[in-house]
Amino acid sequence: MNKPKVIVTRRWPDEVEARLREKFDAVLNGEDAAMSPAQLQDAMREADALLPTVTDQINAEVLSTPDKRARIIASYGVGFNHIDLEAAKAAGLTVTNTPEVLTDCTADLAMTLLLMAARRAGEGERHVRAGAWTGWRPTHMVATSVTGKTLGLIGMGRIARAVAKRAAQGFSMRVVFHDPYTVDDAGLQGLNATACDSAEAVFRQADFVSLHCPGGKATYHLIGAAAFKAMRPNAFLINTARGDVVDEQALIEALQAGEIAGAGLDVFENEPHVSPELLGLENVVLLPHLGSASRETRVAMGMRVIENLEAFFAGASPRDKLV
Ligand code: DGY
Repeated sequence: MNKPKVIVTRRWPDEVEARLREKFDAVLNGEDAAMSPAQLQDAMREADALLPTVTDQINAEVLSTPDKRARIIASYGVGFNHIDLEAAKAAGLTVTNTPEVLTDCTADLAMTLLLMAARRAGEGERHVRAGAWTGWRPTHMVATSVTGKTLGLIGMGRIARAVAKRAAQGFSMRVVFHDPYTVDDAGLQGLNATACDSAEAVFRQADFVSLHCPGGKATYHLIGAAAFKAMRPNAFLINTARGDVVDEQALIEALQAGEIAGAGLDVFENEPHVSPELLGLENVVLLPHLGSASRETRVAMGMRVIENLEAFFAGASPRDKLV
């Protein structure tokens, strides 16, 4: 029997590509160049499965490609705001993502940003590299303590809980959170976490606000001028979710006006473009969307895609089926 043909839109870790070659008739992207909308449509016509990632726009046009052969979109990544799920459903396509395997890795990065922003770590590193350090003194680069402070979480899914666990158990932080959906109490045990009935209640109490909501229309610019006004002037914003959850211009204005103390950002509104004003601010830590970027995690994400594909082509329902 012929192996199903799969087209991968970007380069994946070597171990995963080797496994893809073994299991499927795999077309890989050794050059790692992003595919154009026309190339994505060609792939939909040529393959049984398209394997995109979070930077590919899998919109209605791609999904409804005339004479398409593809039956499944097996995406590499947990976020799925780049895929029009309604259009996929209408086109009779199955869509999967890769939850769970990147939870801890992303939570680690949220804590990295939180600690770096609070302790001025990026600024300190630049200072040393610039040869500007003249030695220890009591008032040099004094920053903000993290231990015992209040962490505010917007969204309380898997990654938020993993951040809450690190914050509560590692840094004795009090955790407050808001999630518009019902949160199962079982996952909150031992976390010293209190639910708030609005995001604003979180903003008013938190020393650190960390975002863990999905991207998409419902959360577009959820954090804008009003949110920054509600936040405390000593507060830091941490974003490892999606860039457009934050109104980047409003964030710049809030930082410039001293409405908040700083930010740690792994995602941006128009990636890979980063506003020049952010680049010029010392109290902002900027990372290039590294949330899931550990070798172990990136391999696990790829293996999870393969697991989903194998289930699908065996006629079963894939574990991570979105539609
Ligand atoms: C995701 O998986 O959605 C991240 O943004 C990339 O790891």
